[in-house]
Amino acid sequence: MRRKLAAGNWKMNGTRASLDEVRTLAAATSGARCEVLICPPATLLSRANEAAGTAPLRFGGQDCHADPSGARTGDISAEQLADAGARYVIVGHSERRTDHGETDAMVAAKALAARRAGLKAIICLGETLVEREAGQALAVIGRQLAGSVPDGAAGADTVIAYEPVWAIGTGLTPTPDQITEVHAALRAALLDRFGSGGWDFRLLYGGSVKPGNAAEIFALPEVDGALVGGASLKAADFLPIVAALSAAAAPVN
Ligand code: PGA
Repeated sequence: MRRKLAAGNWKMNGTRASLDEVRTLAAATSGARCEVLICPPATLLSRANEAAGTAPLRFGGQDCHADPSGARTGDISAEQLADAGARYVIVGHSERRTDHGETDAMVAAKALAARRAGLKAIICLGETLVEREAGQALAVIGRQLAGSVPDGAAGADTVIAYEPVWAIGTGLTPTPDQITEVHAALRAALLDRFGSGGWDFRLLYGGSVKPGNAAEIFALPEVDGALVGGASLKAADFLPIVAALSAAAAPVN
Protein backbone atom coordinates (compact mmCIF):
# COMPACT_ATOMS: atom_id res chain seq x y z
CA MET A 1 0.00 0.00 0.00
CA ARG A 2 1.33 3.43 -0.92
CA ARG A 3 0.88 5.90 1.95
CA LYS A 4 -0.78 9.05 0.68
CA LEU A 5 1.23 12.25 0.99
CA ALA A 6 0.08 15.86 1.36
CA ALA A 7 3.18 17.97 0.74
CA GLY A 8 3.35 21.74 1.08
CA ASN A 9 6.01 23.77 -0.72
CA TRP A 10 6.38 27.19 0.85
CA LYS A 11 8.90 28.33 -1.79
CA MET A 12 10.56 31.66 -0.86
CA ASN A 13 7.87 32.50 1.67
CA GLY A 14 7.88 32.43 5.43
CA THR A 15 9.65 33.95 8.38
CA ARG A 16 9.61 33.08 12.07
CA ALA A 17 6.05 34.41 12.27
CA SER A 18 5.01 31.48 10.02
CA LEU A 19 5.85 29.01 12.78
CA ASP A 20 2.34 29.68 14.09
CA GLU A 21 1.06 27.93 10.96
CA VAL A 22 3.35 24.99 11.73
CA ARG A 23 2.01 24.77 15.29
CA THR A 24 -1.57 24.83 14.00
CA LEU A 25 -0.80 22.13 11.45
CA ALA A 26 1.02 20.00 14.03
CA ALA A 27 -1.95 20.13 16.37
CA ALA A 28 -4.55 19.47 13.67
CA THR A 29 -2.91 16.74 11.61
CA SER A 30 -1.96 14.25 14.32
CA GLY A 31 -4.84 11.98 13.40
CA ALA A 32 -4.45 12.31 9.63
CA ARG A 33 -4.60 9.07 7.64
CA CYS A 34 -1.99 10.44 5.27
CA GLU A 35 1.56 11.68 5.67
CA VAL A 36 1.76 15.47 5.99
CA LEU A 37 4.89 17.32 4.92
CA ILE A 38 5.88 20.98 4.83
CA CYS A 39 8.92 22.16 2.87
CA PRO A 40 9.63 25.57 4.38
CA PRO A 41 12.57 27.76 3.38
CA ALA A 42 15.78 26.23 4.74
CA THR A 43 16.09 29.12 7.20
CA LEU A 44 13.08 27.74 9.07
CA LEU A 45 13.75 24.00 8.94
CA SER A 46 15.21 23.59 12.42
CA ARG A 47 12.72 25.87 14.09
CA ALA A 48 9.78 24.30 12.27
CA ASN A 49 10.91 20.91 13.51
CA GLU A 50 11.06 22.20 17.05
CA ALA A 51 7.69 23.92 16.72
CA ALA A 52 6.06 20.64 15.62
CA GLY A 53 7.30 18.85 18.73
CA THR A 54 6.35 15.20 18.72
CA ALA A 55 3.56 15.59 16.13
CA PRO A 56 3.93 13.37 13.05
CA LEU A 57 4.26 16.45 10.82
CA ARG A 58 7.31 16.05 8.55
CA PHE A 59 9.60 18.66 7.01
CA GLY A 60 11.68 18.82 3.88
CA GLY A 61 14.00 21.00 1.84
CA GLN A 62 13.11 22.61 -1.48
CA ASP A 63 16.38 21.82 -3.26
CA CYS A 64 19.84 20.48 -2.47
CA HIS A 65 23.28 20.50 -4.01
CA ALA A 66 24.57 17.18 -5.33
CA ASP A 67 27.79 17.38 -3.27
CA PRO A 68 27.87 16.58 0.45
CA SER A 69 29.98 19.65 1.37
CA GLY A 70 32.53 22.03 -0.09
CA ALA A 71 33.12 25.39 -1.75
CA ARG A 72 29.56 25.98 -3.04
CA THR A 73 28.61 29.43 -1.84
CA GLY A 74 24.90 29.74 -1.18
CA ASP A 75 24.11 26.07 -1.71
CA ILE A 76 22.86 23.55 0.84
CA SER A 77 23.69 19.86 0.83
CA ALA A 78 21.26 17.03 1.42
CA GLU A 79 23.29 16.12 4.50
CA GLN A 80 22.81 19.64 5.89
CA LEU A 81 19.06 19.45 5.28
CA ALA A 82 18.94 16.11 7.09
CA ASP A 83 20.94 17.62 9.95
CA ALA A 84 18.36 20.42 10.19
CA GLY A 85 15.57 17.86 10.54
CA ALA A 86 14.45 17.30 6.93
CA ARG A 87 13.06 13.90 5.92
CA TYR A 88 12.41 14.86 2.30
CA VAL A 89 13.77 17.17 -0.35
CA ILE A 90 12.06 18.48 -3.47
CA VAL A 91 14.31 18.27 -6.54
CA GLY A 92 13.75 19.44 -10.09
CA HIS A 93 10.90 21.82 -9.38
CA SER A 94 10.07 23.71 -12.58
CA GLU A 95 11.08 26.97 -10.90
CA ARG A 96 14.56 25.49 -10.35
CA ARG A 97 14.66 24.07 -13.87
CA THR A 98 13.68 27.48 -15.32
CA ASP A 99 15.40 29.95 -12.96
CA HIS A 100 18.58 27.93 -12.44
CA GLY A 101 18.85 25.97 -15.67
CA GLU A 102 18.62 22.60 -13.95
CA THR A 103 18.79 19.70 -16.37
CA ASP A 104 17.44 16.19 -15.91
CA ALA A 105 21.00 14.98 -15.22
CA MET A 106 21.44 17.59 -12.48
CA VAL A 107 18.10 16.61 -10.96
CA ALA A 108 19.11 12.93 -10.98
CA ALA A 109 22.38 13.84 -9.22
CA LYS A 110 20.42 15.72 -6.56
CA ALA A 111 18.07 12.76 -6.10
CA LEU A 112 21.12 10.54 -5.60
CA ALA A 113 22.45 13.02 -3.03
CA ALA A 114 19.14 12.83 -1.21
CA ARG A 115 19.40 9.04 -1.04
CA ARG A 116 23.00 9.29 0.18
CA ALA A 117 21.82 11.56 3.02
CA GLY A 118 18.86 9.36 3.93
CA LEU A 119 16.26 11.80 2.56
CA LYS A 120 13.35 10.91 0.32
CA ALA A 121 13.46 12.84 -2.98
CA ILE A 122 10.32 14.37 -4.46
CA ILE A 123 11.27 14.55 -8.13
CA CYS A 124 9.17 17.10 -10.05
CA LEU A 125 8.41 17.03 -13.74
CA GLY A 126 5.81 18.48 -16.06
CA GLU A 127 5.23 20.00 -19.46
CA THR A 128 4.85 23.66 -20.46
CA LEU A 129 1.68 24.91 -22.14
CA VAL A 130 3.46 25.13 -25.49
CA GLU A 131 4.53 21.49 -25.15
CA ARG A 132 1.00 20.39 -24.20
CA GLU A 133 -0.59 22.29 -27.07
CA ALA A 134 1.92 20.73 -29.45
CA GLY A 135 0.82 17.26 -28.29
CA GLN A 136 4.20 16.69 -26.65
CA ALA A 137 3.16 16.38 -22.99
CA LEU A 138 3.65 12.62 -22.64
CA ALA A 139 6.91 12.65 -24.60
CA VAL A 140 8.33 15.46 -22.45
CA ILE A 141 7.26 13.82 -19.20
CA GLY A 142 8.64 10.45 -20.29
CA ARG A 143 11.98 12.05 -21.10
CA GLN A 144 12.09 13.93 -17.78
CA LEU A 145 11.21 10.77 -15.84
CA ALA A 146 13.90 8.73 -17.58
CA GLY A 147 16.55 11.41 -17.06
CA SER A 148 15.67 12.69 -13.59
CA VAL A 149 15.09 9.44 -11.71
CA PRO A 150 18.46 7.84 -10.90
CA ASP A 151 19.19 4.14 -11.29
CA GLY A 152 18.50 2.19 -8.14
CA ALA A 153 15.63 4.46 -7.11
CA ALA A 154 12.78 2.81 -5.22
CA GLY A 155 9.42 3.76 -3.82
CA ALA A 156 10.97 3.91 -0.35
CA ASP A 157 13.25 6.80 -1.32
CA THR A 158 11.56 8.46 -4.28
CA VAL A 159 8.26 10.25 -4.90
CA ILE A 160 7.29 11.61 -8.33
CA ALA A 161 5.32 14.86 -8.61
CA TYR A 162 3.58 15.65 -11.88
CA GLU A 163 3.38 19.43 -12.03
CA PRO A 164 2.34 20.91 -15.37
CA VAL A 165 4.25 24.20 -15.55
CA TRP A 166 1.16 26.03 -16.82
CA ALA A 167 -0.85 24.97 -13.74
CA ILE A 168 1.65 26.19 -11.13
CA GLY A 169 0.44 29.31 -9.38
CA THR A 170 -2.02 30.10 -12.18
CA GLY A 171 -5.31 28.77 -10.85
CA LEU A 172 -5.49 26.53 -13.94
CA THR A 173 -5.61 22.76 -13.52
CA PRO A 174 -5.59 19.95 -16.05
CA THR A 175 -8.81 18.04 -16.57
CA PRO A 176 -9.22 14.81 -14.59
CA ASP A 177 -8.63 12.90 -17.84
CA GLN A 178 -5.37 14.75 -18.48
CA ILE A 179 -4.08 14.01 -14.96
CA THR A 180 -5.14 10.36 -15.28
CA GLU A 181 -3.44 10.01 -18.65
CA VAL A 182 -0.12 11.39 -17.35
CA HIS A 183 -0.17 9.41 -14.09
CA ALA A 184 -0.96 6.20 -15.99
CA ALA A 185 1.96 6.90 -18.33
CA LEU A 186 4.26 7.56 -15.36
CA ARG A 187 3.20 4.31 -13.69
CA ALA A 188 3.71 2.35 -16.91
CA ALA A 189 7.19 3.84 -17.38
CA LEU A 190 8.14 3.07 -13.76
CA LEU A 191 6.94 -0.54 -14.13
CA ASP A 192 8.87 -0.85 -17.36
CA ARG A 193 12.09 0.37 -15.74
CA PHE A 194 11.84 -0.98 -12.19
CA GLY A 195 9.69 -4.08 -12.65
CA SER A 196 7.08 -4.69 -9.98
CA GLY A 197 8.98 -2.20 -7.75
CA GLY A 198 7.43 0.43 -10.01
CA TRP A 199 4.17 0.03 -8.10
CA ASP A 200 5.79 1.42 -4.93
CA PHE A 201 6.53 4.94 -6.15
CA ARG A 202 4.02 7.51 -4.95
CA LEU A 203 2.72 9.80 -7.71
CA LEU A 204 1.67 13.28 -6.60
CA TYR A 205 -0.20 15.86 -8.61
CA GLY A 206 0.82 19.52 -8.19
CA GLY A 207 -0.35 22.80 -9.67
CA SER A 208 -3.12 25.01 -8.24
CA VAL A 209 -4.41 22.39 -5.80
CA LYS A 210 -6.89 24.16 -3.51
CA PRO A 211 -9.47 23.17 -0.90
CA GLY A 212 -12.13 23.44 -3.63
CA ASN A 213 -10.59 20.99 -6.13
CA ALA A 214 -8.62 18.64 -3.86
CA ALA A 215 -11.29 15.96 -3.38
CA GLU A 216 -11.88 15.64 -7.12
CA ILE A 217 -8.15 15.27 -7.80
CA PHE A 218 -7.62 12.79 -4.95
CA ALA A 219 -10.42 10.58 -6.28
CA LEU A 220 -8.43 9.92 -9.45
CA PRO A 221 -6.68 6.59 -9.88
CA GLU A 222 -2.89 6.72 -9.42
CA VAL A 223 -3.00 10.04 -7.52
CA ASP A 224 -1.27 9.36 -4.21
CA GLY A 225 -1.40 12.92 -2.95
CA ALA A 226 -0.43 16.46 -3.87
CA LEU A 227 2.41 18.94 -3.90
CA VAL A 228 0.79 22.21 -2.91
CA GLY A 229 2.32 25.67 -3.21
CA GLY A 230 0.18 28.72 -2.47
CA ALA A 231 -2.53 26.84 -0.58
CA SER A 232 0.04 25.37 1.83
CA LEU A 233 1.11 28.70 3.28
CA LYS A 234 -1.88 29.02 5.60
CA ALA A 235 -3.03 26.16 7.78
CA ALA A 236 -6.61 27.26 7.10
CA ASP A 237 -6.13 26.42 3.41
CA PHE A 238 -3.87 23.39 3.78
CA LEU A 239 -5.91 21.58 6.43
CA PRO A 240 -8.98 21.05 4.20
CA ILE A 241 -6.63 19.60 1.56
CA VAL A 242 -5.12 17.24 4.16
CA ALA A 243 -8.66 16.30 5.23
CA ALA A 244 -9.65 15.54 1.63
CA LEU A 245 -6.61 13.29 1.22
CA SER A 246 -7.27 11.61 4.56
CA ALA A 247 -10.82 10.89 3.39
CA ALA A 248 -9.51 9.45 0.12
CA ALA A 249 -7.20 7.20 2.18
CA ALA A 250 -10.06 5.89 4.33
CA PRO A 251 -10.31 2.11 4.38
CA VAL A 252 -13.14 0.87 2.18
CA ASN A 253 -15.76 -1.08 4.18
P1 PGA B 1 0.77 26.04 -6.56
O1 PGA B 1 2.29 25.52 -6.67
O2 PGA B 1 0.01 25.09 -5.70
O3 PGA B 1 0.90 27.41 -5.96
O4 PGA B 1 0.24 26.07 -7.96
C1 PGA B 1 2.57 24.14 -6.74
C2 PGA B 1 4.06 23.91 -6.78
O5 PGA B 1 4.78 24.69 -7.42
O6 PGA B 1 4.55 22.96 -6.15
